[in-house]
Amino acid sequence: MSFPVAFRKNLLAVRPYVPGKPIEDLERELGIRNASKIASNENPLGPSPKVVQALEKALPKIHRYPDGGAYNLSQALARHLKVEASRLLLGHGSNELIVRLGQMVLNPGDEVIYGDPGFFVYSSTALLCEAIPRPLPLRDFSHDLKVFERAINHKTKVVYIANPNNPTGTMIPLSEVEDFLKLCPSHVLVVLDEAYYEYVDNPAYFESLKLLSQYPNLVVLRTFSKAFGLAGLRVGYGVAHPELVAVFNKIREPFNVNGLAMVAAEAALTDLDHVKKVAELNRAMRKKLFDGLDRLGLNPVPTQANFVYFEIPQTDSLYQQLLKNGIIVRPMGPKALRVTTGTEEETGNFLKVFEAILMTKGIGKT
Ligand SMILES: Cc1ncc(COP(=O)(O)O)c(C=O)c1O
Repeated sequence: MSFPVAFRKNLLAVRPYVPGKPIEDLERELGIRNASKIASNENPLGPSPKVVQALEKALPKIHRYPDGGAYNLSQALARHLKVEASRLLLGHGSNELIVRLGQMVLNPGDEVIYGDPGFFVYSSTALLCEAIPRPLPLRDFSHDLKVFERAINHKTKVVYIANPNNPTGTMIPLSEVEDFLKLCPSHVLVVLDEAYYEYVDNPAYFESLKLLSQYPNLVVLRTFSKAFGLAGLRVGYGVAHPELVAVFNKIREPFNVNGLAMVAAEAALTDLDHVKKVAELNRAMRKKLFDGLDRLGLNPVPTQANFVYFEIPQTDSLYQQLLKNGIIVRPMGPKALRVTTGTEEETGNFLKVFEAILMTKGIGKT
């Protein structure tokens, strides 16, 4: 018997999110134990040992509900970011915040602007809210906020800007974001998604939080999933106008961030040396990956994140061949791949195996 209750019509257009293939699936399929997943922009060094210790200590208390007001983590984050705690939104990953922000301001028929290719959740949020997704093409794989400016009309309600962008890894200077904010009407919510913040080393990038006092319609999102190595626990945060925070706290689930995630995030903030180590390894592996792909004539896109994007024919077949060699990367549509930086060994192995595969197909300068 089919399911008898009608779903909301807008949900019919939502496509499911396709995550990177789980490493356990591939290992089971190939009967191997050392597969390498460089597909989901995870941190190959994992969390700080201080996080693991704090989690072990917290484990016997998981029968208790967590602190719904997240007092300790909010205070720690407020100190870390040098912002007032009343400006902080905490989410089950920054993903939850992307969705909730949409749900908080979008009415049916409103328009949502974001770069294309861009992070999947921006478009699915628009559809979920019966709003109209307006993907805008990137220029040279990067956001062109002049195009965004021209696309704004009276129906525009939310603009998502991922900086650096996923999947292309490109970064725009903060001055371009500020120029955009100056011209953007203040009734439009501008969500600056800085999920890869800790990996950026271009000095023109930083200090977005300083814009918050001048632009009340700005929200800056960051996450503990990437450089802090807590992707599996799901905790992210936003910094925003206190009135927006107050409404968010009314509509979020009472315990949206779980207790272990809060303990882990708080402990992660006490070990910024670990984050530095992660960022340094990433810088070296990003260069190795970029240079290696460049040498193969594949025109990788210059990146400030922890992944490299390049367009290439026969994407699916290359992806499948890499899987057969125990390597999981991420196909991005039919003509591009995104490869996350791994350990020294994983990154080197990927380049070696990929070159051999390309040779059999006559692609690139092999
Ligand atoms: C641009 C961007 N924003 C947000 C997220 C969501 O991250 P999380 O929900 O793990 O904080 C991701 C994850 O890949 C991302 O790439």
